[in-house]
Parts: sequence; structure tokens; C-alpha cells
Amino acid sequence: MGLPRLHFVQSRNDRCFIIVMNKTMKMKSPEKDIENVVIKKLTTDDYDSMIELWDDVGLPYKPHGRDSRESIKYQLQQPTSIYLAAYIWNKMIGVICATHDGRKGWINRLAVLPNYQKRGIAKRLVSEVENRFYKLGIRIYACLIENWNTVSMEFFEHLGYKTYKDIFYLTKRIEPEI
Ligand SMILES: CC(C)(COP(=O)(O)OP(=O)(O)OC[C@H]1O[C@@H](n2cnc3c(N)ncnc32)[C@H](O)[C@@H]1OP(=O)(O)O)[C@@H](O)C(=O)NCCC(=O)NCCS
Repeated sequence: MGLPRLHFVQSRNDRCFIIVMNKTMKMKSPEKDIENVVIKKLTTDDYDSMIELWDDVGLPYKPHGRDSRESIKYQLQQPTSIYLAAYIWNKMIGVICATHDGRKGWINRLAVLPNYQKRGIAKRLVSEVENRFYKLGIRIYACLIENWNTVSMEFFEHLGYKTYKDIFYLTKRIEPEI
């Protein structure tokens, strides 16, 4: 986007400033300003942005279960939760919800907005979480990926995660929507 360059020139009688518009200066679009990405702890105020982000990337989540506003609020209060988000110009562009059980660190609901993918944002979020797990003495990092999600599988394998094809995931759910 081109913006006029402004020059402030003081008038002789010191009474006013004259603004002179000259040339144009280039302004970076947020998509190109990746070096200014900041990673912060997620707060309850970020809930709507997080849901919007998951919707935008098409990531399935449980709005009436563990991803409801109430449930996320509760999870954020737990000392075992490491929920982070990546922001650019105050816009949330990536999120990661990590937890640990004292034995393993679990990565959940990682997502980066399509316009910001393939720029290392998810890698930064995962690395930040792994570092925090490491400081807590946790040395195994894991995630559950549904078999249709080949992009996510390839992404994690690229980061050194090993896929175990001989392990089945068994759960018992008190309510179907949980
Ligand atoms: C998976 C996802 C989070 C990756 O985000 P991203 O910001 O594009 O990933 P990054 O740019 O940080 O990629 C880091 C590295 O992984 C590689 N990578 C990313 N996607 C890849 C893919 N599909 N196949 C192979 N490598 C991939 C990148 O090339 C990069 O490699 P490099 O470090 O050698 O340059 C993103 O595609 C996404 O949000 N997908 C939809 C939501 C989802 O499925 N989440 C997972 C739920 S568990």
C-alpha cells in the first residue's frame, strides 16, 4: 500500500505547521511483517479470536465440550496448561494449546491462519511450548492427529516427531460432546 510521506514545516511566524505531502512511502502488509510476530500467553479475552482462527483453518473443535468458553476459562487457570498465541499487529494469527500430565507434554489445537502459513509461525509456537516443557523436566512431547490430517502429520514429522502406526487411541467419554 502506498501512503503519502508527510513533512512538517514550521511557518515563519511560528503560528502553524504546514504539512507537505511528498512522494509515497511503502507500508508493509501484516502478511509480510513476520519478523514482528510476538508470542504471548492466551487469556480468556482471546477466546473469540481463537474460535475464529480455528474456523478459518477448518480445524475441528468441540464448542459444547472441552473447547467451550467455560471449559477454556477453566483450562487456562490450570498450572499444567501452556496456551499460547502468535500475534501480528495485535491480530491473532496462530494458536497452540499445550498441557502436560507430569510424564508427557501434549500439543493440541495448533493452527496458523492460511495467509500466514509456511513462514515458520507454527514451528515457533511448538518450539516455545517444547522449551517450556523442557524446563519442567518433561522430555516426551506428543500430539494426537486424525488420519485425514496429512498436513499436520507431515508438519510434525518434519519437526522430528515420530508417527507410531501400531498404537490405537482409546477414550471413554462421559458425554458424547465432551
Ligand atoms: C499444520 C500447520 C499448523 C503448520 O503451520 P505453518 O505455520 O504453516 O508451519 P511452519 O511454517 O512453522 O512450518 C515449519 C516447518 O514445517 C514444514 N512444513 C509445514 N507444513 C508442512 C507439510 N504439509 N509438509 C511438510 N513440511 C511442512 C515447513 O516447510 C517448515 O520447514 P522448515 O522449518 O524446514 O522451513 C498449519 O498448516 C495449520 O494451521 N493447519 C490447519 C490446522 C491443523 O491441522 N492443525 C494441526 C492440529 S493437531
